[in-house]
Amino acid sequence: LVIVVDFGAQYGQLIARRVRDLHVYSEIVPCDISAEEVRALAPAAIILSGGPASVYAEDAPSVDPEIFELGIPVLGFCYGQQIMAVTLGGEVGHTEKGEYGPAPLTRLDGRDGAAPSLLYGGTPAEQTVWMSHRDAVSRVPEGFAVTAATDTCPVASMECPERRLYATQFHPEVRHTACGDDLLKNFLFGICGLEPSWQMDSIIDDAVAAIRAQVGDDRVILGLSGGVDSSVVAALCARAIGKQLTCVFVNHGLLRKNEPEEVEAVFTQQFDVDFVHVHAEDRYAALLADVVEPEEKRRIIGSQFWQEFFAVAQELAEDGRPVKYLAQGTIYPDIIESGARKTGGKASTIKSHHNLIPFPEGVHFDLIEPLDHFFKDEVRALGTALGLPDHIVHRQPFPGPGLAIRVIGTVTRDKLAILKEADAIVREELDAYNERLFEACGRRDGELAREAAGGPEVERPVWQYFAVLPDVKSVGVMGDERTYGYPIILRAVESSDAMTADWAKLPYDVLARVSSRIVAEVPGVNRVAYDITSKPPATIEWE
Ligand code: XMP
Repeated sequence: LVIVVDFGAQYGQLIARRVRDLHVYSEIVPCDISAEEVRALAPAAIILSGGPASVYAEDAPSVDPEIFELGIPVLGFCYGQQIMAVTLGGEVGHTEKGEYGPAPLTRLDGRDGAAPSLLYGGTPAEQTVWMSHRDAVSRVPEGFAVTAATDTCPVASMECPERRLYATQFHPEVRHTACGDDLLKNFLFGICGLEPSWQMDSIIDDAVAAIRAQVGDDRVILGLSGGVDSSVVAALCARAIGKQLTCVFVNHGLLRKNEPEEVEAVFTQQFDVDFVHVHAEDRYAALLADVVEPEEKRRIIGSQFWQEFFAVAQELAEDGRPVKYLAQGTIYPDIIESGARKTGGKASTIKSHHNLIPFPEGVHFDLIEPLDHFFKDEVRALGTALGLPDHIVHRQPFPGPGLAIRVIGTVTRDKLAILKEADAIVREELDAYNERLFEACGRRDGELAREAAGGPEVERPVWQYFAVLPDVKSVGVMGDERTYGYPIILRAVESSDAMTADWAKLPYDVLARVSSRIVAEVPGVNRVAYDITSKPPATIEWE
């Protein structure tokens, strides 16, 4: 086990999964973990993450100093380097000018007869690294050597090899750091002596064993949306506890065209699980009437999900066997974006994911969330390993609050009907576009694009695509008649984990087809716009 101590990094929080990519098991722990708790976990290595705070800020997260005395190797990144420095007697200075983006780095290790740094072993003397900081270490603690610098950052990395303490100001976990993976490998396999032995099968075995241990003989309901996350949890739970599980699909009327029928078909025909389809359309419509504010929508929808699950649990319990647990497909980015819970509350709230809304009064479940430290593409790999069908594993993400957060402003049945039709066209056209690219390079899904896009992480060319209905109308002309209708906004992004995304550079003919079909086929729409904003600064969804 490698633990990543989390100081609330928003986008740089890819460290744990980079470690897992190297086949070493890694988990995130909050930064207020004590040295005693760390000792109990007995990790082979500790990585300190970056974070948004300044080490000298009043409520800046700190770390138990005893952690550095446990004899466990430690590697700190960015804030992690700074906290290591100040905790061990060094100094951090505040600079007026930050350093953001790629920076050329010069190694300083191995000079004047000193031994070269094990961390940098096999990497060039000059390399490009990714920086994102304002503060920086100005004096290293006693016993530490400076091992690299950039033009603006004299202590780009430091180490005390005798105590196996290493730190970098830059972010090795970001792909733009050219040798990032090499540094991680040097740390894990060289300095810590770990073996790359952790594989999908062991993840599944561990997850199944953990569910069994947690649940015992109790009964579980699972919040199933039909998306890849909850489907993977369903497959894991089915394997772990079989008939103690009931899958509950809440139809809130905010799903895409034909979706409820498809989900029901898959789970009743292909899976041997108990399946309950809850028709909650009217209840949601009533609750959402007049609600405009996105977080308010999210809160209402999330809260009602709990109520619906609780109602099913109570009904099931009438046979005398109560339902203690609710399993759901929460994944790590949900948690980090909700600014919540297991990050130690240090990350800021971007938007509240439906599955992280607090329970309303009177509702309680113990939660089973076996995917809460995985990223989306890891969950997909897990789905494939569990034997889920491809169309589930490679479904694009769809938010729990559904179309309610893609209808900007109040959600009405009329607006939902327009959006469903427009969205179906967007999906049809972009599915076909992705398919053409798959065919052109002769590869499928995950494999495809690794080559097409030249990077290791791209799963398919256009990762997520959908329509948004804004709360404005504009004038158009159709068949010599004036129209006053809604525009549809097309959103299509490239991403691998939804933490960052870029707008897809779709060919004009694809854009043209989407636009002309929507305007021709969806009554009430007279215009189509394309959202050309990346994340950050925008988010993928509009609300
Ligand atoms: P944003 O809009 O935050 O979305 O860039 C990141 C990814 O998460 C999806 N998303 C959600 N998924 N519940 C979910 O299960 C939610 O409440 C939720 N909100 C956003 C979004 O579609 C994108 O893939």
